[in-house]
Amino acid sequence: MSIVNMWIIALFCLFTLSVADDSGFNTRRFPANFKFGAANAAPQIEGAWNLDGKGETIWDHFAHNYPERIVDRTTPDIACDSYHKYKEDVALVKQMGLDIYRLSIAWSRILPTGYTDQVNSLGVQYYKNLFKELKENGIEPLVTLYHWDLPQPLQESMGGWLNETIVDLFADYARLCFELFNDDVTSWITINEPKQVCLAGYGSGIFAPGIQSDGVGDYICIKNVLLAHAKAYRIYDQDFRMKNKGKVAMVIDSTFWEPGSDSEADKEASERSLQFDLGIYGHPIYIGDWPEVVKTRVAMRSELEGFTQSRLPELTAEEIEFIKGTHDYLALNHYSTQMVNATQEWPIGNPSSAADRSVLVWNRPEWVKGSSDWFNVVPWGLRKLLNWLKNEYGDEEIIITENGYADADGTLEDDRRIAYYQGYLSSCLDAIYEDNVNLTAYVTWSIIDDWEWLGGFSSFLGMYRVDFNDPERPRIKRKSADYFTQIVKNRCVVDENQCTDY
Ligand SMILES: *[C@@H]1O[C@H](CO)[C@@H](O)[C@H](O)[C@H]1NC(C)=O
Ligand SMILES: *[C@@H]1O[C@H](CO)[C@@H](O)[C@H](O)[C@H]1NC(C)=O
Ligand SMILES: *[C@@H]1O[C@H](CO)[C@@H](O)[C@H](O)[C@H]1NC(C)=O
Repeated sequence: MSIVNMWIIALFCLFTLSVADDSGFNTRRFPANFKFGAANAAPQIEGAWNLDGKGETIWDHFAHNYPERIVDRTTPDIACDSYHKYKEDVALVKQMGLDIYRLSIAWSRILPTGYTDQVNSLGVQYYKNLFKELKENGIEPLVTLYHWDLPQPLQESMGGWLNETIVDLFADYARLCFELFNDDVTSWITINEPKQVCLAGYGSGIFAPGIQSDGVGDYICIKNVLLAHAKAYRIYDQDFRMKNKGKVAMVIDSTFWEPGSDSEADKEASERSLQFDLGIYGHPIYIGDWPEVVKTRVAMRSELEGFTQSRLPELTAEEIEFIKGTHDYLALNHYSTQMVNATQEWPIGNPSSAADRSVLVWNRPEWVKGSSDWFNVVPWGLRKLLNWLKNEYGDEEIIITENGYADADGTLEDDRRIAYYQGYLSSCLDAIYEDNVNLTAYVTWSIIDDWEWLGGFSSFLGMYRVDFNDPERPRIKRKSADYFTQIVKNRCVVDENQCTDY
């Protein structure tokens, strides 16, 4: 080996040492203007389900009427009681040095019937108080208008997200929120995770409102959600943006789908999975129209099944234009990665969105897991997903609006959550510095444990434990809270003395 080569290798080692520590974590500091935050949602923390004029939501109704669907038969009736304890939550956010608190407004706390006929002033006051508390503590609210909690009357009287009238009803509600809170909020999210709203709520039916219409209702729902988002975005753009120059986006959640091999077929299965999982929401907004592979495959299978038209509703030229471009940033929720292989076309028969995708999903046995089978801890998956977004939708500002670790035991010594944060945040640094992804904020789920939908109070994601058996609902610090506080303070995921500069 020549001296020159040795020098090159030595230089290479120096370079790699400067960006990764011994265990492979990125040692760079987050950019100076990078923001950290924590997220929550009204139906999971507020409780006070019927207090001070709040109306019933589809999740209240679901938990009350189908208790067997919730693993521990619990309800969101009281949850973390954040309706009364919001100041305590804000104090924790402040204590951890976070810049952003992501929360959601409960439609039925503002409009108990769902319609604009009655505005509940006590509900409005609750959010006004919450925003005031955040402002006094120098914390920026990131506010979701719809986090799955449809007012029950809208489900009962008109079919919820299956009826296109919902587009105008959501737009009316959004306009009202922009009017009420335009002085308090500059960062808005229209709808959280349309995949869960539609595929779980109106497809498989495992989520509220429990409508089983796989491969049909879910697609109708997706179209209505996209139009509702777009309408709210355009209302903000026309009538509210002038005043405080805020930003609006829809939150899309996606797994990363790693191909099982380098074969073209497996790579195609991975790409197809990303388009069905993420592109079906992202493509209409960031590029225009449904992704081609989704359009082609649903049409092909629909025809073989005997439908006279595709189960995927068409977007007219006018609708395509209306939805396209309705984003000020890209908001991503991401928890996990799964493997995907090409496989034979699933049998033609019962229509379903999974059959429209027709891939084989699997998990590497060596992967560390969270509270469920699909919850694989795969930090590099986040970096790959961020790169996929950048390549697919252009160099957009990206905010991670949810990422965090769920365990089933709720231990206070949550070293696995710490490892998750370290890995995933290191992966964010790789994306920022190695790949030039314009990632500007990381908002974790979550600061406190909450009511996890079908998981009830049996799946834990908080850096603070909540004792749901104690009427006071005390918040109890976990080890990860101190770790995350250190990350935010040092802006770096390794020991402070190993951090390398910006
Ligand atoms: C959709 O909503 C409208 C207005 O509420 C209602 O008249 C219509 O019957 C609904 N359609 C269905 C299919 O429920
Ligand atoms: C997926 O494909 C890879 C590569 O061909 C193979 O090793 C693996 O066993 C496959 N997985 C499943 C679950 O069939
Ligand atoms: C990233 O996005 C922000 C917000 O849009 C913008 O101000 C900034 O210039 C972008 N950074 C880069 C490197 O493009």
